Amino acid sequence: MKKLHRHLYPIIVLCSLSGGVSLAQDAAKIELGSQLYAQNCVFCHQADAIGKPGFAPSLSNPEFLSIASDKFILGTIRDGRPGTGMPPFAHLGRDQGRAILAYLRSFSKLPHRAKEVDAEPDAHGDPRLGQQWFEYICSTCHGPEGDGYAAGGTGTAIGKVGTLNKVSDGFLRVTIKEGRSNTRMLGFSGPAGLANLSDQEIDDIIVYLRTLTK
Ligand code: HEC
Ligand code: HEC
Repeated sequence: MKKLHRHLYPIIVLCSLSGGVSLAQDAAKIELGSQLYAQNCVFCHQADAIGKPGFAPSLSNPEFLSIASDKFILGTIRDGRPGTGMPPFAHLGRDQGRAILAYLRSFSKLPHRAKEVDAEPDAHGDPRLGQQWFEYICSTCHGPEGDGYAAGGTGTAIGKVGTLNKVSDGFLRVTIKEGRSNTRMLGFSGPAGLANLSDQEIDDIIVYLRTLTK
């Protein structure tokens, strides 16, 4: 027994040094996050955060998780989106917010690239052309001025300050190009896109969206 112990001890030390303890902590955090999610979010965002068209978006969507920064997700949980169905949860505080974030991140399937996406250059273009594109192809789902579900469609409130103040142009650009799988938000780039918009046309739309909060 004594001999066995002597052999095992270094292994145990090595395991905890190499992250065994922090893995256990992560699992506990995800479990707490899952409980908090069930208490506060599941009613709208549904089981496994898959969302419900026209009611609440998916939060476990692979493309969304890959480009959404921690700051964006935590800030949206804290502040909600004024004028939409997304209420503020400031009362949950930082630690509970972070636990929910850990739970949502446990659904991640694609590499995390929020840093690169947020570092993309700002959009430059013609807001009048952007408005034409928006009214032609986006407003059916997102509402005439990006008002979101209130206008009767399935798209979120991308013209409102609660969204626009928290997202980078890179986040908008990549979402418009690539869309979000398993939702009604299809990509708008390439032959498989809902419409094949050029990079400039996509930037025109972003520049138009930015005028809506001024
Ligand atoms: C009463 C319904 C409701 C509840 C409860 C709710 N949400 Fe939301 N949430 C929404 C709606 C509606 C939107 C989209 C708002 C819009 O149109 O832009 C949203 C948007 C979001 C977004 C932005 C998603 C994106 O695609 O950019 C995040 C993040 C989010 N909610 C997290 C949460 C979390 C976490 C909880 C629980 C702490 C929660 N929500 C609880 C209705 C809700
Ligand atoms: C067929 C309906 C539909 C059309 C058309 C559409 N969208 Fe969307 N869009 C959605 C839905 C639905 C979501 C949210 C996905 C979800 O429910 O999980 C979304 C999400 C988004 C988001 C992310 C918003 C957020 O809350 O994080 C952006 C940005 C966006 N769309 C831009 C556009 C632009 C720009 C156009 C026009 C070029 C467009 N969409 C056309 C349905 C649509």
